Amino acid sequence: MKLAKRVADIGESVTLQITSKAKKMASEGIDIVSFAAGEPDFDTPDFIKQAAIKAINEGFTKYTPSSGMMELREAICAKFKKDNNLDYSPAQVVVSSGAKHSLHNIFQALCEAGDEVIIPAPYWLSYPAMVNMSEAKSVFIETSAKNDFKVTEKDLEAKITRKTKCFVLNSPSNPTGTLYEKSDLEVIAKLAVKHKFFVISDEIYEKLVYDNKKYISIASLGKDIKDLTITVNGVSKSYSMTGWRIGYAAGPIEIMKAIANVQSHATSNPASISQKAALAALAGDQKFIADMRSEFEARRDLMVSRINRMKNISCIKPEGAFYVFCDISKLKASSARIADRLLEEAKVAVIPGEPFGTSSFIRLSFATGKEAINKGMDRIEEWLNKNG
Ligand SMILES: Cc1ncc(COP(=O)(O)O)c(C=O)c1O
Repeated sequence: MKLAKRVADIGESVTLQITSKAKKMASEGIDIVSFAAGEPDFDTPDFIKQAAIKAINEGFTKYTPSSGMMELREAICAKFKKDNNLDYSPAQVVVSSGAKHSLHNIFQALCEAGDEVIIPAPYWLSYPAMVNMSEAKSVFIETSAKNDFKVTEKDLEAKITRKTKCFVLNSPSNPTGTLYEKSDLEVIAKLAVKHKFFVISDEIYEKLVYDNKKYISIASLGKDIKDLTITVNGVSKSYSMTGWRIGYAAGPIEIMKAIANVQSHATSNPASISQKAALAALAGDQKFIADMRSEFEARRDLMVSRINRMKNISCIKPEGAFYVFCDISKLKASSARIADRLLEEAKVAVIPGEPFGTSSFIRLSFATGKEAINKGMDRIEEWLNKNG
């Protein structure tokens, strides 16, 4: 049997391989400390759960408009206005089954064979897979810790061709935690407008930004760049709602109409109950986010200070998201090998850098409690003292 070319290159996720091995070891009674989590470890706030229960009890259990119910799209527009100084109308918003689904829809609507999509590396592993599924080609820009993993004007300019269709911006970034400041965004916006390519701005970690830094959406820099940007966000990380599967995108109306059409034939609408929960999240008390963010910030500081006291590994302080991207190049082995040895020998689960486009780094998530962080750090330190 011959599979379609667009799926042939999509392998099993290395992230899943390591997490399932860690889970298997834990089920055998082995005490594993996991820094593998890709989601907040907080429970979804109760008022959000109650909104979903109410939706079920009131029979809000049928199809909704394909792009999401109007009230939710209005709440999303209000959020864009309040948080990001962005004016979108509900007709420019499509709610999907997670930000990942929004992104997949966008690539389906915009890209085809012959197009190039520029992705800064290290990258979130699903971008190249989604680009593959659209039959376009990923073009990577290598970034480095020296430059806080940011794309420079020179690097980006060097990759732009006539085939460039989109640039993927992910700030704060998974896996590096990099936050693009206004001046960084201005450079990208200038080149996008000059060369007329789209910016897909994945803002899913927007609310997890530290050190009192201000979050800026690239589309808010001016009309020209807004007309070329599709802004993606969702409730997964901000409200600890990963399992509810609600994400959304907003952008130029013709593109959003096409995306709505793609979605209407693929999945109809996102789950009605989850939409009610997302509405409660966006319209309700935002204190949960502030509490979660300050807890994450304290954990980040703890993890970073511990790592930078160890021998042969180091990291820069991430300005957002909940990952520390740790340089292991001095250990002279691939990150897949190091991740495997850390799991087998130190009983600590980390994610190797290969799926993010580098074998010199491992990703450690601080979406776990301080006690577990200290315990895992003790184990890594001890392992490095023996093996590093
Ligand atoms: C950079 C990035 N974008 C998007 C997503 C997907 O979020 P959602 O759960 O809303 O699909 C993730 C989840 O890990 C992510 O890390």
